[in-house]
Amino acid sequence: MIDKSKVLVWDVPTRTFHWLLALSFTGAFLTAESERYRDVHVLLGYTVLGLVAFRLLWGLIGTRYARFRSFAYGPHSVVAYVKSLFTRSPQHYVGHNPAGSWAIYGLLALSLLAGVSGYATYDDIGGHWMEDVHEALANTLLGLVFVHIAGVVLSSVLHRENLARSMLNGYKFGKSGEGIRYRHRLIGATLVAAVAAVWMAGPDSLLPAWTPPGHAAAAVKYQSADPRHDD
Ligand code: HEM
Ligand code: HEM
Repeated sequence: MIDKSKVLVWDVPTRTFHWLLALSFTGAFLTAESERYRDVHVLLGYTVLGLVAFRLLWGLIGTRYARFRSFAYGPHSVVAYVKSLFTRSPQHYVGHNPAGSWAIYGLLALSLLAGVSGYATYDDIGGHWMEDVHEALANTLLGLVFVHIAGVVLSSVLHRENLARSMLNGYKFGKSGEGIRYRHRLIGATLVAAVAAVWMAGPDSLLPAWTPPGHAAAAVKYQSADPRHDD
């Protein structure tokens, strides 16, 4: 039986992180194919990397439900949770549920790998092989995002709780005493400011292009030899 009173569950940095990640990922995907928007794509990709780095830190030092420790579930919990969704009283979690938490670890890992492989592609490490890896990772991430959104919709319907709204205002069903005490608005604002600063600084100032040992000092920027990308 779900307690229908609302408690604060997601602090501001977690919510800010989430929506900035969703925006940056969507933007990176939409700008991926065009040479003309390559700089924007790269900048959005770096933003994804920075956001994930922040989230890894916040998962260690953040508030109760933002900590990885609070959503480290084994396969048995995932199976039990999914089975319970088909019963009259699905298990309700104040923080992330076990199935959602596995999707979240996957989203974080794939975002990291897509970003790193994008950097490698940009600096021509690995050539066309790396390009293919980057594209495959990004597409797998897109697939998992669809699964994630479908999971959010399904859990929201079954629990009669709008989870997307909770990620906006921070509140979920729970008993008093289960909520977190501090929103950490300042840290959330700092995250927004850092992303804004990176955007204003532009891609070149953020990470100098990597020059492989033995190459000329002037960094060689990625140039696609593939005629499909000539737009
Ligand atoms: C319209 C699109 C989206 C909606 C409505 C949405 C909604 C949500 C919701 C409701 C949660 C909390 C789940 C829970 O209650 O346990 C969540 C968590 C999460 N979502 Fe999304 N999401 C969207 C897009 C994305 C995208 C595009 C990504 C990544 C590329 C993403 C990555 C994550 C991550 C990493 C978390 C964990 C949050 C944390 O604890 O830091 N989401 N999302
Ligand atoms: C993590 C978020 C990222 C996503 C979702 C993403 C997605 C994609 C996708 C889907 C493509 C294939 C486009 C096509 O059809 O040709 C692509 C290409 C590319 N990405 Fe990313 N990317 C990300 C991050 C990055 C980063 C951080 C960089 C550079 C520092 C980067 C650099 C590139 C380059 C140079 C290409 C062109 C490769 C080619 O011509 O085939 N990406 N990206």
